[in-house]
Amino acid sequence: MPPKLILSVLLLCAFSNDVHSARVLGLFPHTGKSHQMVFEPLLRTLAERGHQVTTVSFFPLKDPIENYTDISLEGIYEIRLESLDLSMFETTSGILSKIPVLNRISRQLSEFQPLADAAVSICEELKTLSPLADALKREYDVILMENFNSDCMLGLLHVYGNTAPKVALSSCNLVPWSANRIGLPDNPAYVPFVSTSFTTRMTFAQRLENTFLNILYKAWFYYKVQAKERAILEKHFRTNIPDLRILAKNYSLMLVNTFHTLNGIRPMVPALVEVGGMHLDHSRKALPHYIERFLNESEHGVILLSFGSLIKTATIPKYKEDIIVNALSKLKQRVIWKYENSGEEGTLTGNILRVKWLPQYELLQHKKIIAFIAHGGLLGMTEAISAGKPMVVVPFFGDQPANGAAAAAAGFAKVVPYMELTEKALTEALDFVLSAETRVKARLVSSIWLDRQADPLETAVYWTERVIRWGHAAPLHSASRDMPFYQLALLDVIAAFTVAILILVTLLWFILSAVYRLVFSKENKLKMH
Ligand SMILES: *[C@@H]1O[C@H](CO)[C@@H](O)[C@H](O)[C@H]1NC(C)=O
Ligand SMILES: *[C@@H]1O[C@H](CO)[C@@H](O)[C@H](O)[C@H]1NC(C)=O
Ligand SMILES: *[C@@H]1O[C@H](CO)[C@@H](O)[C@H](O)[C@H]1NC(C)=O
Repeated sequence: MPPKLILSVLLLCAFSNDVHSARVLGLFPHTGKSHQMVFEPLLRTLAERGHQVTTVSFFPLKDPIENYTDISLEGIYEIRLESLDLSMFETTSGILSKIPVLNRISRQLSEFQPLADAAVSICEELKTLSPLADALKREYDVILMENFNSDCMLGLLHVYGNTAPKVALSSCNLVPWSANRIGLPDNPAYVPFVSTSFTTRMTFAQRLENTFLNILYKAWFYYKVQAKERAILEKHFRTNIPDLRILAKNYSLMLVNTFHTLNGIRPMVPALVEVGGMHLDHSRKALPHYIERFLNESEHGVILLSFGSLIKTATIPKYKEDIIVNALSKLKQRVIWKYENSGEEGTLTGNILRVKWLPQYELLQHKKIIAFIAHGGLLGMTEAISAGKPMVVVPFFGDQPANGAAAAAAGFAKVVPYMELTEKALTEALDFVLSAETRVKARLVSSIWLDRQADPLETAVYWTERVIRWGHAAPLHSASRDMPFYQLALLDVIAAFTVAILILVTLLWFILSAVYRLVFSKENKLKMH
């Protein structure tokens, strides 16, 4: 073949859209099941498309599939499901509780602390895990890694000299230390911190708090997590590891489980791709018989109530449970409540059926389900907006208040914080949510949310394969990633302008005073004559 032909054949291969059998590594060192659930469909789809997928996580696939290898982290750290004791939300004592803003901040810090503790303890275990070391030493075309409470894997990849392009995965809205990894603007004037109850439109006091939290949590993550993880790895491997903040500035792409119709609009860079809704399985499976009968026999529709997989419903204090039951009993609608301590076929009291487990998205899509009461976890919110069902959001902690506030701003939800739960507040919220207007609004918002260029899972696959195709050759981050703060904030430019203005003013002053003196002395001379 003539060289020119060879070149064009090569180019053709390089530019064709198919990437055959790439090597993909997924790293999920966090114990939150929902964090991995979001991205499991992506990993599965990649394997089905003929890529060789290796996944390191606490949740190996129950039924193994071809081209997919699990490396289990089970047992290295305790996984908590339905374990969150709600009595911890009852204590409001001490001086801090008297000042709402300090109370909020100290509460958030105490909520975040377990994430740092878990990250550091898990890092201690990861450093000596030989199946992980073997996996990290191999070559890959792309590495997908959860971007949340730990950067231990970044340190380990550095130790093993692995330079494969990396994709960051965020199962919740972005934590503040994500933004500068891809040069993403995160101006706290209109980008709310992930665990506040603020929306994109903030008052002065909210912007003050939001800005403070943005700075606080970047420092918090560095001191509580990154510095400790780096020290652990440096000690164990007896080698210098760069600051994890520097290693983190090498992601090719970030996939985030949000979509702006629900989560609010923020400025984007090409490296940030919203894939909210990616985990949804739209295939309709059969409902358990007793649930279907309960739905069929309801005349006015059914409300779904679930506080998710982390919160142990049975630890709701009696008086709070009474509040919920009283508000719900007054309704003509029926209620299905996910409540672990209930009988096999559910426990029926009045219009409320308590069930151990429920197929949440299946139910939300059912026409008899007319509203959803939930804690505001992002997956449940996503399912509700996709199914077009209005919500009462009862946020507890983490990103739930922000998710609730965003849904309320989008017009299909009412928020009743768990701490402020009263029968009156819940009844009013239910009135709002069950009104014809809100139900129409929920369907409208749903249609807008569903209206995309491509299905979110397809979008995630496309962008992952795009990174596989071009690797480090096609950067998607903005230049701000590599800029020091003073340049990014234009402090040097402002300083230059200030100096220029000062010089101009000084010059002007000299000229004016010279002119003045000239005129004045002439006048004096004229007067003397
Ligand atoms: C596994 O990958 C190979 C190519 O690497 C592909 O031919 C095969 O179809 C894949 N298997 C499945 C079940 O998708
Ligand atoms: C990112 O990784 C690539 C590949 O290892 C390397 O060439 C590049 O220098 C790294 N960039 C930074 C900012 O560390
Ligand atoms: C519920 O109603 C549907 C349609 O009306 C019917 O097909 C189904 O068999 C009913 N299920 C039960 C458990 O009654």
